[in-house]
Amino acid sequence: MLKILVCVSGGGTNLQAIIDGIAQGTITNTEVVRVISNNKNAYALERAKNAGIDAVCVSPKDYTDREQFNEAFLQAVTGAEPDLIVLAGFLVVIPEKMIKAYPNQIINIHPSLIPSFCGTGYYGLKVHEGALERGVKVTGATVHFVDEGTDTGPIILQKAVAVEEGDTPEILQKRVMEQAEWQIMPRAIDLIANGKVSVRNGKVWLSE
Ligand code: GAR
Repeated sequence: MLKILVCVSGGGTNLQAIIDGIAQGTITNTEVVRVISNNKNAYALERAKNAGIDAVCVSPKDYTDREQFNEAFLQAVTGAEPDLIVLAGFLVVIPEKMIKAYPNQIINIHPSLIPSFCGTGYYGLKVHEGALERGVKVTGATVHFVDEGTDTGPIILQKAVAVEEGDTPEILQKRVMEQAEWQIMPRAIDLIANGKVSVRNGKVWLSE
């Protein structure tokens, strides 16, 4: 059984897709052992509680400096003894110490086809604003392992989504979530839980 810990900051629709995937059997061999939010008002915390999952808030606002917050966050993570850490809309830079402690054991969902519209400053709606400004015709989402860079780790799964005339960042965000994020994040977890993902030479190899 793969023990996963999910980190969230906001609405938690990706967390919900994971909870539903486990309940419906599209994600197998997996248990969510804890949800951590950096934001006490995140609706994702409600979703976790409704599903009977241990949910905690570790907010930078409660610590005098970043060092102390990082330490508390790391403790909240290690205390749950996860096999995999899932960043599901988690808008906090992961401390280097944690990345070193969990090599290829942290995954992230990003709402574009990496390497487009990713890196520092590209998160949430800003990603879709960037895509619409550039006038791309296809966007999508990516699940990748987390390394020391921002959105630079090995890519596990990607799914393309069409941009349509008249799209606003909000409309495009919703379509990317529905057609890509809520599908590839549960799928990536299921693949990892069933030993079908390996990383060689900085690239992901899938065996299905
Ligand atoms: C999702 O669209 C996710 O891809 C994005 O935040 C949103 C969280 O939504 N993540 C990033 O932009 C990370 N760079 P959710 O809380 O409803 O899952």
